[in-house]
Amino acid sequence: MPLFVRKSYRIAIVGATGAVGAELIDVLRRRAFPVKHLRLLASARSAGRSMPGPTENVQVEELKEDSFRDVDLAFFSAGGDISRKFVPLAREAGAVVIDNSSVFRMDPEVPLVLPEINGTDVAWHRGVIANPNCTTAVTLMALHPLHLAFGLRRIFASSYQAVSGTGARAIAELKQQVAAASNGSPAVPEVYPHPIAFNVLPQVDSFLPDGYTKEEMKMQHEGRRIMHLPEFRASVTCVRVPVFRAHSVAVSAEFERPISVDAAREVLAKAPGLDLCDEPGRSVYPMPLQAAHKDNCQVGRIRLDCAMENGLAFWVSGDQLLKGAALNAVQIAELL
Ligand code: A2P
Repeated sequence: MPLFVRKSYRIAIVGATGAVGAELIDVLRRRAFPVKHLRLLASARSAGRSMPGPTENVQVEELKEDSFRDVDLAFFSAGGDISRKFVPLAREAGAVVIDNSSVFRMDPEVPLVLPEINGTDVAWHRGVIANPNCTTAVTLMALHPLHLAFGLRRIFASSYQAVSGTGARAIAELKQQVAAASNGSPAVPEVYPHPIAFNVLPQVDSFLPDGYTKEEMKMQHEGRRIMHLPEFRASVTCVRVPVFRAHSVAVSAEFERPISVDAAREVLAKAPGLDLCDEPGRSVYPMPLQAAHKDNCQVGRIRLDCAMENGLAFWVSGDQLLKGAALNAVQIAELL
């Protein structure tokens, strides 16, 4: 598949009215991506609605089989079922697809790309490039630079995931449950199996036969592909927390070579797309409220792991709608 040669591009966003779709429009604008024409696609429910585009308002169109005529680049963020059906159609129509769903992430024909780590993998795309899972992306921003310096073996991790990762309905559900609690009304869970306000749910995505959830295993499966590290192992517990925006992950990582806190800080301070926020004496560490709406992820609470040899414990936060989704997708488009 040849790289683009145009100076500006005809772009489609599938799922434009969703949590990630709105961010995609904003990131294209902020980064002055050369957009010649923007097509915003969503369900019939949203057709006709006007949304602010990078330069002028754009009317949302219903996603249809012929929506990709005259499109150079299509961003998909409307869930797996839509990607499964419409990505092949977009590709046949000649568009290059950057897909945010998990449908193509483990397909050996599809590069799975985090530009700071394996940006060169875009070179072998055949029309589709997959955007990584949001929790995996935020974690790898800190883990991969450490891997390059000390040789990563495995991690144990727990995530603290914001509701916006589930989408616009989950944001509304948390707001509604917080309001209900302040009136003394019962929370009515719809998106999640239990109330999310004033609660934490040790379930993100559905369970596999071995007891892990699908989301938990993405760290190992996608981490191996992105870092080109087939032996990497990850035991993860993913937890949904009543936070609107930005995921956090507590990580204990084991390395092949000895590691020190100073050496780790030095590596992390230089890592692209990452800010070091690590002054425990002043209570400076990453937090979702601080990481939200920022392009860079943040790392802190760096200490030697007292339960393993060559181990480092740290805490990373990142805006999963940006680095975990829209920003990463636009960075991939920029690489093209
Ligand atoms: P719509 O707003 O019209 O329902 P989120 O991840 O925030 O839940 O957003 C999901 C996105 O996927 C929205 O833009 C939503 O559009 C879109 N979407 C959902 N179902 C369809 C569908 N059947 N066809 C096209 N877009 C869809």
